[in-house]
Amino acid sequence: MNVRKDEVMPIRTSADIVQVRQTVRQWAAEVGFGLVDQTKLVTAASELARNTLDYGRGGTVHLMSVEDGGRRGLRLVFEDQGPGIPDIQLALTDGFTSGGGLGLGLGGSKRLVNEFDIASTVGEGTRVTITRWK
Ligand SMILES: Nc1ncnc2c1ncn2[C@@H]1O[C@H](COP(=O)(O)OP(=O)(O)O)[C@@H](O)[C@H]1O
Ligand SMILES: [Mg+2]
Repeated sequence: MNVRKDEVMPIRTSADIVQVRQTVRQWAAEVGFGLVDQTKLVTAASELARNTLDYGRGGTVHLMSVEDGGRRGLRLVFEDQGPGIPDIQLALTDGFTSGGGLGLGLGGSKRLVNEFDIASTVGEGTRVTITRWK
């Protein structure tokens, strides 16, 4: 897999999430995703950025425009050094929230992309990686 372009953006404020949404849409359009797929990526990015801010106490997203064997895609890696997720399966369950949300962010994001990975350690932080291929 080749990374054609990449950028790290901070997620410290709600305004940062707006920036992330705009940049993801722009990069997705550059990769050649149509409007529906762009919106899927923006929606997933928005949910994960919101989690990074609300539960992870802020962090970063690493955007990567990637290519693998001729196919192009967008990979996003959300990272924080917050409290971590004690039970990842539970956190992925639709309707589960520890914070009064709808509990649809993680599961919903997973369904909107082709590859989804969570690595989390209690007391150290969380990294969520998503990739959507064209
Ligand atoms: N970055 C994170 N750090 C710690 N916990 C998280 C993180 N992201 C998600 N979680 C946990 O997973 C749960 C489910 O997340 P999500 O599906 O987005 O629902 P909601 O945001 O509505 O609570 C959260 O309530 C929280 O307990
Ligand atoms: Mg959420």
